Amino acid sequence: MAWLQGSALGHAMRESGVWTYGVVNLAHILGIASLFGSVLILDLRLLGLWRGVPLPAITNPTVRVARLGFGLALITGISMLATKATDYAGNPFFYIKFPAIGLGLLNVAALNFSRAWKEHKTRDLSAREQSRLAVFGGLSLVCWLTAISCGRMIGYW
Ligand code: HEM
Repeated sequence: MAWLQGSALGHAMRESGVWTYGVVNLAHILGIASLFGSVLILDLRLLGLWRGVPLPAITNPTVRVARLGFGLALITGISMLATKATDYAGNPFFYIKFPAIGLGLLNVAALNFSRAWKEHKTRDLSAREQSRLAVFGGLSLVCWLTAISCGRMIGYW
């Protein structure tokens, strides 16, 4: 944390004007909104809503927007962290938020390895495969909702 705070990024965040942190925070929220907005639609579809809509019609746009949103949240989040990293050392929400993000990413990795996900664009899935995807969707919602809740609470500790 001390290294990050003392890095060139930390100096740039603190010394490049009063609006910098606010604008980066705004971009963080836009990243989170894009990530969670798309993940919510995707996960609800995996959980069984809107079965009339073919799965690829939902996965194609939502996965792209979620990736972009995560990339933006990652870059802006590290920048905000660098501003005053050592202040977060005793914040319990900090220690819940990052494992939640880690688990969310592990869940995405496991989903990508599953046969149902790999083949959902080329054939109809069996009921059993759809149930497996629903488990990934449920876990995903829990992880990202936890990350958002703890991210918001960090500032109030
Ligand atoms: C991946 C790297 C990320 C880092 C390093 C990071 C870091 C940060 C930092 C330092 C803050 C400011 C906390 C404060 O002092 O108020 C923040 C705010 C926040 N973060 Fe992140 N974050 C990351 C990703 C995410 C993701 C993926 C989510 C949600 C899915 C998220 C949700 C939030 C929320 C809701 C806030 C509060 C914004 C506000 O109300 O001003 N963050 N984050």
